Amino acid sequence: MRTQVAIIGAGPSGLLLGQLLFKAGIDNVILERQTSDYVLGRIRAGILEQVTVDLLREAGVGAGVDSAGTVHHSIELVFGGVRHAIDVHGLTGGKVVTAYGQTELTRDLMDARRSAGLDTIYSAANVLPLDFDGSKPGVSWQQDGQTHLLECDFIAGCDGFHGVSRATVKDKVAEYEKVYPFGWLGVLADVAPVSPHAIVYGNSERGFSLCSMRSPTRSRYYVQCPLDDTVQAWSDQRFWDELRRRLDPDLAGRIVTGPSIEKSIAPLRSFVAEPMRFGRLFLAGDAAHIVPPTGAKGLNLAATDVKYLSSAFIDYFRNNSPSGIDSYSERCLRRIWKAERFSWWLTTLMHRFPDSSGFGQKVQEAELDYLVGSRAASTALAENYVGLPL
Ligand code: APR
Ligand code: PHB
Repeated sequence: MRTQVAIIGAGPSGLLLGQLLFKAGIDNVILERQTSDYVLGRIRAGILEQVTVDLLREAGVGAGVDSAGTVHHSIELVFGGVRHAIDVHGLTGGKVVTAYGQTELTRDLMDARRSAGLDTIYSAANVLPLDFDGSKPGVSWQQDGQTHLLECDFIAGCDGFHGVSRATVKDKVAEYEKVYPFGWLGVLADVAPVSPHAIVYGNSERGFSLCSMRSPTRSRYYVQCPLDDTVQAWSDQRFWDELRRRLDPDLAGRIVTGPSIEKSIAPLRSFVAEPMRFGRLFLAGDAAHIVPPTGAKGLNLAATDVKYLSSAFIDYFRNNSPSGIDSYSERCLRRIWKAERFSWWLTTLMHRFPDSSGFGQKVQEAELDYLVGSRAASTALAENYVGLPL
C-alpha cells in the first residue's frame, strides 16, 4: 500500500490535514488507534478563532460552524463578586470568536472524509513511523493479527500528547513543561447557557469558574478543583451549588441547572516539544504542544500547525519546493510560544494557587483591576483571545 502523506491520528489535526490535502489533490491515509465513536466521545473546548473558521471553510467543512456556531463579541470577567465585560470585537477592530463544539467539528470532518471516499483505518494497533530519516519512509501497524505497511513520502504525527510520533523521536526532542497544582471539573448539560453571548471567566476566593456553551440548548461549565479530587465526590447538586458561589449574584441567580450528561476532571499543563520536524516526520497539534484550557487555544493552535503543514506539502508536491517544509517547525513555534504565554498568563491570573502568599494574591487582584480599567491592557487580552495574526 502506498500514499503521499501517512497521517497518524484522527483527531481534529489529522482529519483537518487530510481534508486540506485531499482538496489540493494530495493522496493521504489516516491511521487511528481508537474507533471513531471513541474519538467522538472526547469532550473538549469549543471556541474557534476566525483563522480556524476560515480554514474549516477552505477545507469545505464550514457549513456546520456557519449554521450552528455562536459568534461571541465579548468575554466577561468576574472577580470580587462583580462582572466586567471586555468588548473583544470593539477592541480588536471587529474580530470575534465562535463557539462550536469540538465533537461537532470532528463529526463534520469525519463525514466529509467518508463522503470523499478517503481511507481511514480505525483500531490500528502498534502504529510505527519508519525510516523517516532515510529514503523509504512508511508506517507499519497491526490489525486482525497481521502486520501492514504503508509506504509514503511524508508522515504527519497528529497523534496527540500520548501518541507514538513524538515518542519515536524522544531522544531528539527538547521538552518544556509546566504542570499546574489544580484541575478543572467540567460538566456538560442540556440547559440554556447563562451567558449565551459571552464566555464568563470567574476568579473567586473559592477558585476559578467558567461558563461556556455548545449551543443555545447545551452548556459547558467548569470549576477549579484539587488534583486529587474525584468525579464521584461531585454530585450534580454539589457542582451547581459550587458554581453559583463562584459567580456574581446576578449570574448565580440566573443559572439554569439540569442533569449532567458528561462530567470529568482534567489536569492543566503547558508543554512544548521542539523541533516539530524530523526528516520526513512532522508533529502537529497536541503531539507537539499542550496549553491549559484557559483561553481555549488548544484546538486553534492545532489548526494553525495544520494550515502551515498542508501548505508546505502542497508547495512540495506542486512546485517541488522544500521551503515550506524547511520553515515549518520555526514558523509554528513562533506562534505556539505566544499562545503558550497567553494561556499561562490567563491561567495564573484567574486561579487560586495553593501556595499563593498574601502578596501574590494582592498582586493578582491589582492586575485584574488594571486589566478592566485600562484600554491598553484590555486590548492586549482581546487581541490574544481572538488569535494573533498568522
Ligand atoms: N496510533 C494511532 N493513533 C493514535 C496513537 C497511535 N499510537 N496515539 C494516539 N492516537 C490518536 C488518538 O486516539 C487521537 O484520536 O491520535 C488522535 C489525536 O487526537 P487529539 O488528542 O485530539 O489531538 P489533535 O488532533 O492534535 O487535536 C488537538 O485536541 O486536546 C485538544 O486542545 C486540543 O483541541 C485541541 C485538539
Ligand atoms: C469550553 O467551552 O469548553 C471552553 C471555553 C473557553 C475556555 C475553555 C473551555 O477558555
